[in-house]
Amino acid sequence: MPPDDCRVEVETVAPDRTTSFRKEHEREARSTEWNFPVVWHEQQHEVAALESVVVVGVLGLWIAASLAHVDSIIVAPSRRRCGIGRALLGRAESLAKYYNCHKVTLQTPADGVARTFFEACGYKLEAVLQQHTWKRDVAVLRKFLL
Ligand SMILES: CC(C)(COP(=O)(O)OP(=O)(O)OC[C@H]1O[C@@H](n2cnc3c(N)ncnc32)[C@H](O)[C@@H]1OP(=O)(O)O)[C@@H](O)C(=O)NCCC(=O)NCCS
Repeated sequence: MPPDDCRVEVETVAPDRTTSFRKEHEREARSTEWNFPVVWHEQQHEVAALESVVVVGVLGLWIAASLAHVDSIIVAPSRRRCGIGRALLGRAESLAKYYNCHKVTLQTPADGVARTFFEACGYKLEAVLQQHTWKRDVAVLRKFLL
C-alpha cells in the first residue's frame, strides 16, 4: 500500500488544466529521462502546396530533440502524381535541416502505396511495428539529413 500522501485520484482533464504543471516540470523530467541537461523545445509546422490561393496539398511536421516527424501528408486526389508530394516533403526536410535535425521519420502502412512514394523520395525502412494502427503492420521509415 502506498503511504497516505501518495494516494491520488487519477482523472481525464482538459489539456489546459495541466499546462502550468508541464511548464514547471517538463525540463527536469526530460533531463532525468535522457540523463543529460535537455532543453526540450517542440515545434509544429504546417506546409502547404498552393495553386494560386487554393490549397492542393498539406504536410504536418513535428520537430523536437533533433528529430523531425512527418505527421501527415495529403495531396488532393486530382493533383496526385505530379510531384506535389515530393515538393512538400522536400520543404519539410529543408525546415528540419534548418532546425538542426539529423533525421526525418514517419509511419505508414507496411504494405501501402504511400510507402512506395516515401521510398521513391529516399526514405528507408527502419522497423516494422507489428499489428499496430488499425491492427495492421506499420513501417517506420526514415531519412538521415546530415
Ligand atoms: C502519398 C501522396 C502524398 C503522394 O503525393 P503525390 O503528389 O502524388 O506524389 P509525387 O507525385 O510527388 O510522387 C513522387 C514519386 O512517388 C512515387 N509514387 C507516388 N504515388 C505513387 C503511387 N500511387 N504508386 C506508385 N508510386 C507512387 C512515384 O515514384 C512518384 O514519382 P513519379 O510520379 O515520377 O513516378 C498522395 O498519393 C496522397 O495524398 N495519398 C493519400 C494520403 C496518404 O497516403 N498519405 C501518406 C501518409 S500520411
